Amino acid sequence: MKVDVLLGLQWGDEGKGKVVDVLTPRYDVVARFQGGPNAGHTLEFNGQKYVLRSIPSGIFQGDKVNLIGNGVVLDPALFKAEAEALEAAGHPLKERLHISKKAHLIMPTHRLLDAAYEAAKGDAKVGTTGKGIGPTYTDKVSRNGLRVGDILHDFERKYEAAKARHIQMLEGLHYGPYELADMEKAWLEGIEYLKQFHLVDSEHEVNRLLAEGKSVLCEGAQGTMLDVDFGSYPFVTSSNTICAGACTGLGVAPNKIGEVYGIFKAYCTRVGAGPFPTELFDETGDRICTLGHEFGSVTGRKRRCGWIDLVALRYAIMVDGVTQLIMMKSDVLDAFETIKACVAYKVGGEEIDYFPFDISEGIEPVYVELPGWKTDMTKMQSEDEFPEEFNAYLSFLEEQLGVPIKFVSIGPDRQQTIERYVEEV
Ligand code: GDP
Ligand code: IMO
Ligand code: MG
Repeated sequence: MKVDVLLGLQWGDEGKGKVVDVLTPRYDVVARFQGGPNAGHTLEFNGQKYVLRSIPSGIFQGDKVNLIGNGVVLDPALFKAEAEALEAAGHPLKERLHISKKAHLIMPTHRLLDAAYEAAKGDAKVGTTGKGIGPTYTDKVSRNGLRVGDILHDFERKYEAAKARHIQMLEGLHYGPYELADMEKAWLEGIEYLKQFHLVDSEHEVNRLLAEGKSVLCEGAQGTMLDVDFGSYPFVTSSNTICAGACTGLGVAPNKIGEVYGIFKAYCTRVGAGPFPTELFDETGDRICTLGHEFGSVTGRKRRCGWIDLVALRYAIMVDGVTQLIMMKSDVLDAFETIKACVAYKVGGEEIDYFPFDISEGIEPVYVELPGWKTDMTKMQSEDEFPEEFNAYLSFLEEQLGVPIKFVSIGPDRQQTIERYVEEV
């Protein structure tokens, strides 16, 4: 049995939560492998909407194992609030949700450090989600982190030592005044709450399940262009969001990876600072934002909007090894006369079709303009109903990207998903 991986190919918020929920019935296990509560994954079904941050999006589809892997960073206070809300809404978690003992803990002082580092950056702010992601991964790599497994033994001493270190750092950054007591209280309650869950060695668990013939779907957070190595550095998150992150974030070997689903919007968005070559600053950008309800699911921040960037997508497909594409939110473009797609960049008068080292300035997108389909597609049930112009748009993208588009999402609801290339039995 193989591990399939679902990844955002752009700057996050592609619709990963929705698709993981749709695909979950085909799997036994759903696992998060990186990121933390910087993620906001939205699902809609039966007229209900849920936003998940640390809990995998497979939690609503029956008795599947949902796993939070070692590569994730977990804030116990936020986790407790998220889990309790789900349980109160009638979705029991305790038996189905397993958490790696090797996942790192986001401390209240990590959140303060996140704010302090941003403040110190002046005009060069990353525009982080403020959830302490960067400082927690920094502590992990510099071998100072606290892990979920640490809460089981001699925890207070470890916590106090880490906190004292952070307070010194905050002093060094001249950050303050700040209020820690309330945050700390909620956090310590979260630590006690965590103890009620199955705390596991995720690498053993995943490999045992695979050996038993079980199938695993990995749920990426953020997107490839936010990857700490391959994204638009330094305007990135602090984890490996690419396919390889599933190996290090769960303890599965590369040869266990099967399908890689790459998910993208029919246009492009970005939240936070950093370069975005196809960003629109005009009415069209505003129209996409309004029709697509492009406001962050966690922070409520307005997302920057622009046309689809095929140069960046080809790059993402390459570093992720994508085998199947999933196109989201095409319904947002349903009424457009024409639709643009960036097929190359012009840099210093020269046209390039590869993703360069630096996209921070001097990049002029080269567009192809395609006819819109001008049809409300939101109630369609199968690809037989697709308008001709929409099929032409799909064929154009497949030719440009070299990978088949296996699913098209035509609305936020679970039902508004159309599978293509379904093999006849
Ligand atoms: P994620 O972080 O990748 O899971 O994506 P988010 O949940 O942050 O953002 C995607 C948003 O688009 C959510 O509000 C979804 O409900 C919504 N959405 C997902 N698929 C579609 C779609 O096909 N059409 C429309 N109009 N909205 C969608
Ligand atoms: P999902 O999983 C969109 C962005 C932030 C900021 C940068 C670094 O819902 O797609 P961080 O708090 O991670 O240090 O912020 O990354 N960012 C996201 N943008 N979707 C996300 O997650 C994001 N998670 C982080 O806006 O620019
Ligand atoms: Mg999101």
